[in-house]
Amino acid sequence: MRLDVSAASPVDVYHLLTGIVTPRPIAWVSTLSPAGVANLAPFSFFNVFSANPPVVVFSPTLRRDGTKKDTLLNLETLPEFVLSAATAPLADHVNASSKELPPEESEFVHTGLTPAPSVKVRPPRVAESPTAMECVVKQIIPCGTGPIAGNLVIGEVVTIHIADEVLDPAGRVDPRKLRTVARLGADFWCHTSDLFERKRP
Ligand SMILES: Cc1cc2nc3c(=O)[nH]c(=O)nc-3n(C[C@H](O)[C@H](O)[C@H](O)COP(=O)(O)O)c2cc1C
Repeated sequence: MRLDVSAASPVDVYHLLTGIVTPRPIAWVSTLSPAGVANLAPFSFFNVFSANPPVVVFSPTLRRDGTKKDTLLNLETLPEFVLSAATAPLADHVNASSKELPPEESEFVHTGLTPAPSVKVRPPRVAESPTAMECVVKQIIPCGTGPIAGNLVIGEVVTIHIADEVLDPAGRVDPRKLRTVARLGADFWCHTSDLFERKRP
């Protein structure tokens, strides 16, 4: 099979892309609405792209009706967010926070998760998550205007919280303790427990 993207439907392209580009880490993003409602949602169009300065990028796409998601609208008024780690024990909460709630309803309340105050930004972090990265938006780049068009949110990490329980004796994050989950195609997720090591040549 071969797909000419210019002749294909955006939904078909989306399913192929998200099936091929796997596994995708999950940004669990909290933002604050103009009315002060703490919003929380997962985004698997996500990664880290710089360490000095530390820069992360995630992408809230436009909805299939072309409207902006709450996360993007919130960032346009308050350009700060927090990324909490999406871990195996919290996978159901991560999924529950993806429910499309009206902007006046908080996913923290919907999921029963605890908002913990951040240090340098105003949106709260997820208290139950073992890591959180406080970020300030550097730039938002819209990829298009149609359904499922991405919006690259480029953020600089300004504070990192890490629970001692997920560190190894050298003070580095131990993946066997952090146990992040990731997204594959369709409704599949994966654990990060099937590990192997390779030394860099
Ligand atoms: C694991 C997972 C990953 C997701 N990744 C994305 C993504 O990368 N981009 C996106 O726009 N929506 C993604 N979604 C859907 C959003 O989480 C969902 O649309 C959510 O309601 C958006 O919330 P908001 O309107 O409060 O911003 C994902 C959902 C799940 C469960």
